[in-house]
Amino acid sequence: MIKASNIHKSYGNLEVLKGVDIHIKIGEVVSIVGESGAGKSTLLQILGTLDHPSNSNKYNTEISIAGESFINMNDKQLSKFRNQNIGFVFQFHQLLPEFTALENVLLPTKIGGANEKEALEKAYALFEDLKIEQRLNHKPNQLSGGEAQRVAVARALINSPKIIFADEPTGNLDSKNADDLHRLFFDLRDKYNQTFVIVTHNPNLAEITDRKLVMKDGMIIE
Ligand SMILES: Nc1ncnc2c1ncn2[C@@H]1O[C@H](COP(=O)(O)OP(=O)(O)O)[C@@H](O)[C@H]1O
Ligand SMILES: [Mg+2]
Repeated sequence: MIKASNIHKSYGNLEVLKGVDIHIKIGEVVSIVGESGAGKSTLLQILGTLDHPSNSNKYNTEISIAGESFINMNDKQLSKFRNQNIGFVFQFHQLLPEFTALENVLLPTKIGGANEKEALEKAYALFEDLKIEQRLNHKPNQLSGGEAQRVAVARALINSPKIIFADEPTGNLDSKNADDLHRLFFDLRDKYNQTFVIVTHNPNLAEITDRKLVMKDGMIIE
């Protein structure tokens, strides 16, 4: 699903990623752990097309998702590629406050120009899968932390992405809600063969993922 090699990233003199290789298979749930500052978020942003690697020509950097290389795409091509192939879940839900849960979830389908009726059907199915069907018309400030994160997961899934990147998705939840959301990731994998790459500090989650990658000082060390 993902094939990436020789990813480097520098900010000025600070070398944040020092040649990362990563391969992820379809339907895998992979965790990335490591100390704060190790480069986890930077790696996720680059894999997710939100940021660019440094000197990709010099290092012969390759990154592809579902067989499609995006390293040489321009911004417009990247936005389209991202909208159709990639879902994100962050530590804070990043839902738009003035929109309802349903409107937030439908937003990526509007950007992608999807069929409205199909999008709505998919959204309803996701709200049921994620057990938030009672929260369709609530605004983000009317949702609990766990509910808001579920809505964020529904938004990530609405365009049936090839892969979901999650950056400490349960870092802001209590342990019960965190465990529930973790279980949900595995349910979604079982149901849709959904692929996940999850940066986490949560040892319970890291232990139950298919593979745990450890990052240290800009490298994957195991
Ligand atoms: N936009 C930026 N400008 C300068 N330095 C950055 C930027 N983003 C991240 N860094 C630095 O890169 C290093 C890795 O950051 P990050 O990828 O966020 O680590 P992690 O997610 O593992 O905590 C840190 O030293 C951080 O300060
Ligand atoms: Mg981080």
